[in-house]
Amino acid sequence: MLILGIETSCDETGVALYHSQRGLLAHALHTQIAMHEEYGGVVPELASRDHIRRVLPLVREVMHRGGASLADIDAVAYTQGPGLAGALLVGTSIANALAFALGIPALGIHHLEGHLLSPLLASEPPRFPFVALLVSGGHTQLMRVGAVGEYELLGETMDDAAGEAFDKTAHLLGLGYPGGPALAQLAGKGRVGRYKLPRPMLEQMHRTGNLDFSFSGLKTAAQLLVRQQVPDAAGRADVAAAFQEAIVDVLVAKSLHALEQTGLDQLVVAGGVGANRRLRQRLDREAAEAGCSVFYPEFEFCTDNGAMIALAGALRLGAGIGADPAQAHGAAGVRLGARDPAARTYAFTVKPRWNLSTSV
Ligand code: KG4
Ligand code: ZN
Repeated sequence: MLILGIETSCDETGVALYHSQRGLLAHALHTQIAMHEEYGGVVPELASRDHIRRVLPLVREVMHRGGASLADIDAVAYTQGPGLAGALLVGTSIANALAFALGIPALGIHHLEGHLLSPLLASEPPRFPFVALLVSGGHTQLMRVGAVGEYELLGETMDDAAGEAFDKTAHLLGLGYPGGPALAQLAGKGRVGRYKLPRPMLEQMHRTGNLDFSFSGLKTAAQLLVRQQVPDAAGRADVAAAFQEAIVDVLVAKSLHALEQTGLDQLVVAGGVGANRRLRQRLDREAAEAGCSVFYPEFEFCTDNGAMIALAGALRLGAGIGADPAQAHGAAGVRLGARDPAARTYAFTVKPRWNLSTSV
């Protein structure tokens, strides 16, 4: 099975070609970071327009690099949600048009499913079941992953996502967009102990086992600190270090608690914040002490990309999920199970808001 994957949920256009036996054949990415930078964040309309310009050239590029032609593709997997509606519509309409023209299935994939399966692209992948920590710009969730399509939510953020908190605090410190990597870099120059910031919902976890997160209070505490003390350059690095350490403390403690609660010994970390080196360092050390292993996607697949969408599509097809007409119809409006390709309908919708546990 050869799957073409298309990701356009936010500010990255990602396209990839994945073969169920041979693995990832090619992938290409265009990031819009430079375009959105001057606005300090993603401008949805500009994002959609840029995806339109990029998708087809990137498809041509991966077909060429993967040594395949469109006629070789067995299915097109695309990000159907969650994300920016206009941006999602670009990938979704191109994927369905291509699938229609080729007479093959179009598979609507949940963006977070792509992220949490992305460590399976690595040379030493985890085995099911595992606990997944999903930390992106829009989401912070802990999930128990039993198999492809089997996701149980263990905890999630009540307000800001971890990446969002990184981005907003970075903005407060005068850093550019996206703030996460910039704040992490500044934190590397700061002292952790100089400022004290809260660890939201940690005490509650110790009392009740609650695995939910809340980061807006932490962001506000950092805001107050900066307003009251007006730190100089060194002080700003110290605030960044204190902020990063607080988030990392919470993410590490909750991840380890999730492993303990589920009795599992593998943790998968996915999403953009998973690129954070301090988080990786602490998780590696503390998980090892608890007898557990941590798996990360390859660095280039931590943030949004087409490879994880193609992979999720291949795994879904391999597991027979999405091949059921009733299920597929509900999820994507595409009757994948229809034996007669002419009977497939390529009507589509996007799902800007979509809970992962309802994706199967
Ligand atoms: O998964 P992703 O690429 O896009 C979403 O689906 O949201 O995640 C992007 C988020 C942004 O908030 C970005 O600031 C954050 O991941 N991020 C980081 C780092 N690299 C990216 N946060 C902290 N440290 C990093 N090194
Ligand atoms: Zn993402």
